[in-house]
Amino acid sequence: MLKSILENRPTLKAEIDKVAEVAGYLWQKGWAERNGGNITINVTEFVDDEIRRMPAISPAYPIGTTLPSLKGCYFFCKGTNRRMRDLARWPMENGSVIRISDDCASYVIIADKAVKPTSELASHLSMHNQMIESGNGYKAAIHTHPIDLIAMTHNRAFLQKDVLTNLLWSMIPETRAFCPKGLGIVPYYMPSSVELAEGTIEQLKEYDVVMWEKHGVCAVGPDIMEAFDQVDVLSKAAQIYLTAKSMGFTPEGTSQEQMDELKRAFNL
Ligand code: 13P
Ligand code: ZN
Repeated sequence: MLKSILENRPTLKAEIDKVAEVAGYLWQKGWAERNGGNITINVTEFVDDEIRRMPAISPAYPIGTTLPSLKGCYFFCKGTNRRMRDLARWPMENGSVIRISDDCASYVIIADKAVKPTSELASHLSMHNQMIESGNGYKAAIHTHPIDLIAMTHNRAFLQKDVLTNLLWSMIPETRAFCPKGLGIVPYYMPSSVELAEGTIEQLKEYDVVMWEKHGVCAVGPDIMEAFDQVDVLSKAAQIYLTAKSMGFTPEGTSQEQMDELKRAFNL
């Protein structure tokens, strides 16, 4: 039997295990219908000489854009059309490790199987490229379909800059504390398009979480667990908003003063 790239590499395996754990949460949350959503993590720090020598097991595929800071980088990516609930149980059957080619515009798959990466790879790799350039040390990107947050993007009033951020912050103090930058809005673009990737990284200059209008949410973080946490915290706030609405009233929200007090107390 072909051995897995994870064998005898406990630190790499630990990161893939976290991806699988988060994939399970996405399914449990009801955010991952069919193949909905995708996860990528930068695993370059775990790459040794043996991995560097591993041959390509796929043709070179174009990324769709050129990302100079990804030269020599390696990523684990969910496969396109693969289910999160399957990624949760069998990560190496439903995702693969890719190596960015020297032209920084294409990649090859190196392990374990030739599972073609997510159709949102242009967005994911653009996010990783920007994270490297910013030097923030972030290694993970997630895109998912949370029902509550997506529903909110169907209201034009919520698409104005920081309207949704302030509304969600005001629902429960934790949102302000644990999603301190709030969330950016990317207008509707075709799924998997380069325009969507460009819109995403524009917003990521300011935010760690961005909404894709009428489609989903993207978040970045030091690892996949923290990227997931940000979406989870925002979804909780959205749930509080719509629970109050379904009880027949508009929630009052904490005041600007109360939010400012929190900002000072937590040094946000
Ligand atoms: P993939 O199956 O290609 O990852 O696509 C899922 C998705 O959510 C597209 O936006
Ligand atoms: Zn999607």
